Amino acid sequence: MTTILAIESSCDETAASVCIDGRILSNYVANQKVHEQYGGVVPELASRAHMQNIVPVVDAALKTADCRLETVDAIAFTQSPGLIGSLLVGGQFAKSLALALNKPLIAVHHMQAHVLANLIGEPKPSFPFLCLTVSGGHTQIVLCESPTKMKVIGETIDDAAGEAFDKSAKLLGLPYPGGPLIDKYAQQGDPNRFKFPEPQIPGFNFSFSGVKTSILYFLQNAGKSNIYKTEFMATEEEKKKFIQNNLADICASIQHRIVTILLNKLKKTSIETGITDICIAGGVSANSQLRIAFEELGKKLKWRTFVPAFEYCTDNAAMIAITGYYKYLAKDFADLSFSSSARAEW
Ligand code: KG4
Ligand code: ZN
Repeated sequence: MTTILAIESSCDETAASVCIDGRILSNYVANQKVHEQYGGVVPELASRAHMQNIVPVVDAALKTADCRLETVDAIAFTQSPGLIGSLLVGGQFAKSLALALNKPLIAVHHMQAHVLANLIGEPKPSFPFLCLTVSGGHTQIVLCESPTKMKVIGETIDDAAGEAFDKSAKLLGLPYPGGPLIDKYAQQGDPNRFKFPEPQIPGFNFSFSGVKTSILYFLQNAGKSNIYKTEFMATEEEKKKFIQNNLADICASIQHRIVTILLNKLKKTSIETGITDICIAGGVSANSQLRIAFEELGKKLKWRTFVPAFEYCTDNAAMIAITGYYKYLAKDFADLSFSSSARAEW
């Protein structure tokens, strides 16, 4: 029996999970409300909140799993990428535990863990599979050959999909993180009412900065155009009124464009690689329209589609635990000199 205790602290969620033989027994996440008033994550405040949360969160994960520290076989932690202060809190805590318990330490790459969230539960995708990983900081298509062998074959050349959601929401005057709010308002809206451009980027790469700019101009022009035109500039009052009266349709149209950009690229990648086991992962994979459109496209193209449960899409420690479990089987351990890193190679 292999028991992994996992810790995730790469951004603004402090999370811990216990997994036995690849089965998740607990998945505990403490969100940090302190950032809402600033419209984005404040790194220093995130580090301090991690320090306050980490002991109670790990304790809760162990208790929920009915697991004692002495029975843990290895400690897995997010080593990179992320906010360096946040990573350091989880990393140092994991190292201290490993040292005190004399148990091996497993360093996990946060983005690889998002991909492997698809190996939690049944049915599992077969290798090789493709994974569209869409989060606040990344948009990638990953070719996964085994739990420990994967490579990025497409990625964004500018903003991430989550950023496109959050920045659009900010332009609409919605609080951070705006992705889930756009999802919520879009439920009532018409996705075809307003048109935003689809970028033509070669290969399997993405771009979202053009869409973001067209949304900015569209709002500045109170919906009359999404191209920069000084003569159409609306007053602040007109812009506010336009947003108020059309919020659902604007959200649905923005969401529709982001989702079609993602899925058109995923379709192209599947056709060109011949791979038909396809997964999605990361915070944006919690988006209801992306989930629906992904399943519909999969049916049409005869894919086997895999979508993690909601709790394993946004940042969580269960994905670190499952990755830790496969690394444990591969005896891929880190020593105590291992340091956290804001950026990371694959
Ligand atoms: O993976 P994640 O939790 O953290 C990072 O590693 O970045 O992703 C967070 C991102 C944010 O941009 C958030 O707005 C977005 O995921 N997100 C959503 C939804 N839920 C979370 N975007 C659109 N619709 C959602 N339902
Ligand atoms: Zn993430």
